Parts: sequence; structure tokens; C-alpha cells
Amino acid sequence: MKSRLSSTVVFLICALFAFAASVRAQDIVIGEFASLTGSEATFGINSSNGVELAKEEINNAGGMLGGRKIKIVIEDDQSKPGQPSAAVKKLIASDRAIAIVGEIASSRSLEAAPICQQAKIPMVSPGSTNPSVTEKGDYIFRVCFIDPFQGTVMAKFALDNLHAKKIAILQDVKSDYSKGLAQFFKEYFTAHGGQIVGDRSYTGGGIDKDFRAQLTSLKVAQPEAIFVPGYYTEAGLIAKQARSLGIKVPLLGGDGWDSPKLTEIGGSALDGCYFSTHFSVQDQNPKVQDFVKKYQAKFHALPDGMAPLGYDAMMILGQAINTAGSTDGTKVRDALASVKNYPGVTGNITINEKRNATKSAVVLQVQNNQTKFVATVPP
Ligand code: PHE
Repeated sequence: MKSRLSSTVVFLICALFAFAASVRAQDIVIGEFASLTGSEATFGINSSNGVELAKEEINNAGGMLGGRKIKIVIEDDQSKPGQPSAAVKKLIASDRAIAIVGEIASSRSLEAAPICQQAKIPMVSPGSTNPSVTEKGDYIFRVCFIDPFQGTVMAKFALDNLHAKKIAILQDVKSDYSKGLAQFFKEYFTAHGGQIVGDRSYTGGGIDKDFRAQLTSLKVAQPEAIFVPGYYTEAGLIAKQARSLGIKVPLLGGDGWDSPKLTEIGGSALDGCYFSTHFSVQDQNPKVQDFVKKYQAKFHALPDGMAPLGYDAMMILGQAINTAGSTDGTKVRDALASVKNYPGVTGNITINEKRNATKSAVVLQVQNNQTKFVATVPP
């Protein structure tokens, strides 16, 4: 009898706790879709580390909208087409995400954006640089620069710093990012006295692994540099195979090269190559150094460009929710559209009328399996 009584008391106490938890201010659910596995896994892993860091800071500072905590629900899109749309549908319909963070790769953001737009759920891409991403609708934002700028940065760098007049291009036909960046590079380079002496392509996403036929034909054209606007997995392999074919000229890339895996794959074949990106750990700006310290303490590694982009994306979204005073999609959208001069780790962020951020790029050089800061290029 006594024991039955005490188990009833235990049950009642448990029920009371469960009830108390359910009436506690509801969490604000942010959905994130990212390539945690597959050919661009470091993009997803490192950007979501950045998102996590921002979430922790917001929650430790008391949360938002009167003490509500942010909860991130993350879906792995496996770096594969078809997955991003499934991921955001689930995040919106089942998890009731009030906003979406993602993706890094432009093709995957382009796939998911129409779904967010239709649902009137704001989407913030940390790193997709293809211009068409935010053209998918007025709920689609990004916190990074776009490729017409990035293509100009590298074309100008080739002309002014490398004094290269003849350049070959090797692009990934499966990537909207790669095709766009190749085009923007070409436009600026040829309009300013340069010549494209060869233009070949491959299929990225871990499909093509042998680039020697393309490289052999590009070598014949005797370029002074080769522009490889693809992702790190292929860029590393291309560098190795280029050297094995006796190609000695520097390879140039864009932010798609930004990964700790780049030099793991390409090693010394990448020495003397250059790429543009969003962030350098060598930047002495206190905001950057503070982020590097916090990131290292939590993840025991140096951040690449994706990590601070993920962090800035989450922070701006948090600020927008606070400004909106609500989790309503349209109100958060309006607050995102009015972000001005937000001091991000990746630079000052002002969202322009096209929902893009106007920011500086950095150029890095690869040397001895490390990247060295070369230049900052203002917008
Ligand atoms: N800008 C690339 C794209 O649009 C992705 C990327 C962002 C890669 C930042 C590295 C760093 O596909």
C-alpha cells in the first residue's frame, strides 16, 4: 500500500515537471540544410559549426523575444542534388522552422530557395555566391558577396598582380557556381586586354576524378595561369594532375577552394596557387581574432571561410527576429531586408535591395599546405 502510494506521488511529480516544461517559453526553431557528408562535406560541417557557435551565444545571452531559446534542426543534404528540396520541405512542414539557414553551394541553394519562397519562410544563405540565388524571391537572402564581384577580383588579380594576359579555364559543368564564376571572370579579363586561350570542363560532385585529357589540351595553349572555379575536392586533384603533366603555371580559384581538405588532397602541387574567399584567419581585426579563439576553443581546429559565414548568417537572423519582435515569416523577412552595417566576422554586412551583402573579398596564396593572406579587395 505504502509503495503504491509513493509510486503515485512519483508519477504525479513527473507529470508536473512535464507540464512545466511544456508551458516554458517555446523554442524558436531554425532549420538548417547543409552538406554534412559527401563531396563538399567540409562546407556543411564548418558552416554548421559557425551556426552552432552563434546559437550558443544567443541562448547564453538569454535567448530572444523574452527568453525563448533558439533550437537548430539540421538536415544533411549529402552534397547531392534532390536532397536540398526534401530537406527544407521537412524542416518547414514537420519541424515548423520559422526560418532556414543554408546552403553553401549555389546549386543546392537554388534548389531549395523556391520552396522557402513559396512557404514565405525566410532563407539566409551563408555562402552561395551565384547571383541567381536571391533572384528566386524576396524571402531569399545571403550574407556573402556575389560572383560578378568575385570573378572581377580574380581576373584583376591575374592581370595586375600576375601580369598574365593568357589564361585557360577548367570549369565544373554540374555547378551553377562554377559556370557563373567562369563567365564573370572571362568577361572582366577579356574586356581588360586578357585572352582566354582554352576553356574545358568536367563533372564535379565527386564524379570525375581524371582531368588529364582536359589539362593536356589546355597545356598546348600555353596559358600563363589556369582558372579553376570549382570545389576543393576536384581542385586538389586537378592541381596534382596538372603538375604530373608538367604544367607549372599557377592555378587560380575562388571560394570553392576554401577547405582544410584542399591541401590534404593537392599537397605541394598547390604551392604558389591563389584563390579568393571571404575570410582569413591571419586578419588581425579583433573581431576576426576573437572568433578564431572561440572557434578553436570549441572545435579544436582553425576556422575556414565557411565557419564565420555560418556564424554571421545565424547572428543576422537572430538580430532580424529581435527587430521583428516576432517569428512571423513576413516580419522577419522585412527585418532582414533592412539590415545595415552589421559588424560581422566576415566584414560589415549591409543587405542591399537585391538581398545580397556588399563586402570585401580576400585573396589567399597556398604555400606549404597553408594559406597566406595576400590582399583584401574592397567591393
Ligand atoms: N560560393 C560557393 C558557391 O556558391 C560556395 C562556397 C562559399 C564555398 C564559401 C566556400 C566558401 O557555391
